[in-house]
Amino acid sequence: MIARELLPQLGLASDVTGLFEQPKSLPPKLFYDAEGSALFERITQLPEYYPTRTEAAILRNNANEIAAAVQPLQSLIELGAGTSSKTRVLIAAFLRAQSKLKFFPVDISAAPLHLVRDAICREFPGLVHTPIVTDFSDELILPSNIPSPRLVLYLGSSIGNFEPMQAVAFLLRVRRALHPGDGLLLGADMRKHPRVLLPAYDDAHGVTAAFNKNILAHINQELGGHFDLSKFKHLARWKSNESRIEMYLESTVRQTVLIESLDASVEFEAGELIHTENSYKYSDGMVRSMLRHAGFAVEKVWRDKRGWFSDYLARVPR
Ligand code: AVI
Repeated sequence: MIARELLPQLGLASDVTGLFEQPKSLPPKLFYDAEGSALFERITQLPEYYPTRTEAAILRNNANEIAAAVQPLQSLIELGAGTSSKTRVLIAAFLRAQSKLKFFPVDISAAPLHLVRDAICREFPGLVHTPIVTDFSDELILPSNIPSPRLVLYLGSSIGNFEPMQAVAFLLRVRRALHPGDGLLLGADMRKHPRVLLPAYDDAHGVTAAFNKNILAHINQELGGHFDLSKFKHLARWKSNESRIEMYLESTVRQTVLIESLDASVEFEAGELIHTENSYKYSDGMVRSMLRHAGFAVEKVWRDKRGWFSDYLARVPR
């Protein structure tokens, strides 16, 4: 009993080891507790955060074409689903072409899945809705009863939060979890000028700053951390050579922070950084190369007029 209760905490404890390394880092999956998921929803509605709006328009404008390209479909699996806000136009298009569909939204955080469950079921009576709460970043085990043909959605350029090698390894795991003929719709944020990129990760209202700092609040809550969020500053940088936005938390003072359940303290110099996230921005060649290396065949790409965002339909070869 006690051991079972401790399991989730041990999981989180092993995720914060980067605080005791040089340079310090934390994995971005720690952003997504209930509060972090709610903050991310707010980010997606910010005027500066173009990816969600741009991808939503791509999906809206091409929903029928996307549905036709993947029909017939038995199951739709959305990885990192959150509130599935962009997915609804696709579900509507699928259900115009066929009367039934099984929908499996998958997320590390239960809160957004449960928040929208009733609304989605009311909106789409033909939909069988089965939420799955799991951390799929290291391992992807799909329930064996998900019937093919299946389409996996991995939208929002969440792939960009993996390192390129990890991204290929992740796509490989997705491909292995699928059957020949199954599809993947992958959203990818494309390279663009830093005057567009930087405000998207450092918005005027400080929502991204709150999202970034929430990683420390999450550690406070789950591991008895004593982080004072007012002593950390949000930073976003564009690294052109790496083709990525980097996010950091900067300790504004010299400080020692106790983490009770680890029985350990973290020492910070004034100005010392915790690297919390990379968000890669892609060329068309980079995305195609990742998909090819993972064993997918790219079938079609939909983009917005400015070429800011792309959705790739890739297939597991037969
Ligand atoms: C989830 N992911 C694709 C977001 C991104 O743009 O990399 C996370 C995010 N970080 C800061 N703002 C949004």
